[in-house]
Amino acid sequence: MFVPVVLLIMALLVLLWQGVSDQAVRVLKERAGLSHDERAPRFARRATLAITALILLFMGAPRSWLEPPPPMVATYMADSLWAGMDTTLIEHIGGEREDLVQYGRELIRNTAFYLGPEGIVAQQTNGMNCQNCHLDAGAKPWGNNYSAVWSTYPKFRERSGATETVVKRINDCFERSLNGVALDSTSREMRALVAYMEWLGTGIDAGKKPKGSGLAELKFMDRAADPIHGQAIYTAKCASCHKEDGAGVKAANGLTYQYPPLWGEHSYNIGAGLYRLSRFAGYVKNNMPQGVTWENPQLTDEEAWDVAAYVNSQQRPDRDLSADWPNIAGKPVDHPFGPFADSIPEVQHKFGPFGPIAEAKKAIRK
Ligand code: HEC
Ligand code: HEC
Repeated sequence: MFVPVVLLIMALLVLLWQGVSDQAVRVLKERAGLSHDERAPRFARRATLAITALILLFMGAPRSWLEPPPPMVATYMADSLWAGMDTTLIEHIGGEREDLVQYGRELIRNTAFYLGPEGIVAQQTNGMNCQNCHLDAGAKPWGNNYSAVWSTYPKFRERSGATETVVKRINDCFERSLNGVALDSTSREMRALVAYMEWLGTGIDAGKKPKGSGLAELKFMDRAADPIHGQAIYTAKCASCHKEDGAGVKAANGLTYQYPPLWGEHSYNIGAGLYRLSRFAGYVKNNMPQGVTWENPQLTDEEAWDVAAYVNSQQRPDRDLSADWPNIAGKPVDHPFGPFADSIPEVQHKFGPFGPIAEAKKAIRK
């Protein structure tokens, strides 16, 4: 705004000066008995008027024409907790990429509307939204956020025994957490999800995991997690929303969930990350009951482990896991299905105590 105003004032000054000087020249010429040519000053005056009009037009133009887009700086500093990107910056990206990032964010928040059982684009997921597990569109500290996705993929993952791209990792959640069908890698939906992950990762150096990324790792308990104690916690602190039968509550539009299911046919399947106790406990500790954050958790670590044991003891969709973990020594301590590289029983791989399994893993690696 500043520059046009200065230009306008200068133009008016030129106009004024022109009038005054023309008048002075005329008086001098008349005194000298010379004739005065009116054309040159008239032209100068018109030119000045035209410039003034242009500047006024310029000032009336939308702000976005006048101001350069703000720099795409991340709010992330290496020693502080990653707190997500300023979403108002999306509208300054411009062009096709802006549309993709915006659509990607929308797909995370309202997955079922587009891709759920009655999705308007396709029908290939269980009705949950990515955001049900990746809170605040994947931007909440310790809320299973996506801050480390762009900086760490492609990466080798033991579950598939292969190097996974962002596309493959997103489709993992489609097939497991959303108990659905993978998206075509060239679809507009997949390109939008990838564009959103890239945008969220702005400013994070390759290979770096910001503080607060993903889920918190809770300390192992010395005992096994206890589903009976977990049930009492569930009834007291979870059932009001997720319901005693774990089926959750549909939103008024009938398409998404107000309170997503925790088990049963519409929930994540046995191949999903949350089916592992450490992932579930890490999620719940800093994010549930709804509204808590890592700064004001409600559950103790023990309560988080126990409620995880209760929820993950209930019925949920099956999945063929025979191709998973091709290297059995690479299984995480809480992967609940054998065969295992150690001789510890399966039930301990499900409920713990996990300390001895971690020790056995270390010994095998040596
Ligand atoms: C039922 C819960 C749930 C739902 C729904 C879900 N995810 Fe996930 N997602 C997880 C868990 C758990 C992890 C693993 C976190 C970990 O191991 O730290 C994960 C991991 C990811 C990762 C890798 C993160 C990283 O830093 O390595 C991506 C990418 C991802 N999900 C994308 C999606 C997308 C896209 C959707 C929706 C189409 C979705 N997820 C839906 C639970 C879910
Ligand atoms: C006040 C209502 C409320 C309470 C109480 C509550 N939740 Fe949730 N929960 C939600 C909502 C809403 C979401 C989805 C969040 C979103 O989409 O932003 C959710 C999501 C979840 C998810 C991930 C999505 C899924 O369905 O798998 C898990 C796991 C979960 N809650 C577990 C729990 C546990 C365990 C408790 C009790 C300790 C609990 N919740 C208490 C409202 C609640």
